Amino acid sequence: MPILDRFDLTGRTAIVTGAGSNLGREMSLALAEAGADIVGVGRRPEPLEETGAMVRERGRRYLARPTDVTDSSEVNAMVADAIAEFGTIEVLVNNAGGGGAGRGKTLPELTDEDWHEGIDTNLTTAFLCSRAVIEHFVEHGFGRIINVTSGWGYRGARHRFMYPIAKAGVISLTKALAMSYARENVRASCIAPGAFPHELTPEVENRSGLQPAGRFGRLEEIGPLAVFLASDAADYLSGETVLIDGGAIAAGVTPAGMVPAIEEAG
Ligand SMILES: NC(=O)c1ccc[n+]([C@@H]2O[C@H](COP(=O)([O-])OP(=O)(O)OC[C@H]3O[C@@H](n4cnc5c(N)ncnc54)[C@H](OP(=O)(O)O)[C@@H]3O)[C@@H](O)[C@H]2O)c1
Repeated sequence: MPILDRFDLTGRTAIVTGAGSNLGREMSLALAEAGADIVGVGRRPEPLEETGAMVRERGRRYLARPTDVTDSSEVNAMVADAIAEFGTIEVLVNNAGGGGAGRGKTLPELTDEDWHEGIDTNLTTAFLCSRAVIEHFVEHGFGRIINVTSGWGYRGARHRFMYPIAKAGVISLTKALAMSYARENVRASCIAPGAFPHELTPEVENRSGLQPAGRFGRLEEIGPLAVFLASDAADYLSGETVLIDGGAIAAGVTPAGMVPAIEEAG
């Protein structure tokens, strides 16, 4: 088989959480360009529909499925609807997440709500969606779970507890999934982005020199990695977390390539 054919996703369907914005949208479009139909998931319907228009422009089918992926009953219903619409689901991209919970608070200042928000947004989301699809993947004899962690999953920061803790959990969840379902031909992998600004403002440009590569990640650079991990080209890759950070973690600096403001202040 020609090498590029092994990256072809024609006939596959991917659920992408957080599909309405930034990295999730980019991965949705890349998977669609490689041939996959897409189930776009997020809480807000409008951005999901915008992504849908772009997926359809690429000739693929798309289901916008507004869902709060911290809610197990909503997640289970979303997966059931996706299977009803497309017949089978082959790929799950657990991209929904975010970094604000409890940021800058000392340990005594962290509330129970901060803890649960940080874990729920970044780790419970991936757990619930993986649990909801796994029996379908096992029955089907095929499945690809792609989690999204962060360079922060590899390190700590002063008074930044929740995001690094939850994202480290995502790396561990990936290993547990990979080990548990390897013989069922279900692969689990993880993408660890460095800093991918949503907009290249002058302020962002000014800080780019602090990155080892001399620039930040470009949103569209995430797509090819997602396609690879979803494809037959990655058939023997499982349990692995792939850093895409222009060398920031290798350089021993933060994923953003700079000392966070909270550390400077301390
Ligand atoms: N950009 C970076 O520099 C960077 C670096 C490292 C890791 N990451 C990780 O990459 C992922 C995507 O981040 P991004 O930069 O693309 O940020 P973003 O635009 O804020 O994306 C987060 C997405 O997740 C969705 N989401 C959040 N909570 C949800 C929930 N409870 N239920 C359903 N959907 C939910 C949001 O949609 P709704 O608000 O509509 O629900 C949104 O589309 C995140 O996991 C983030 O931690 C990003």
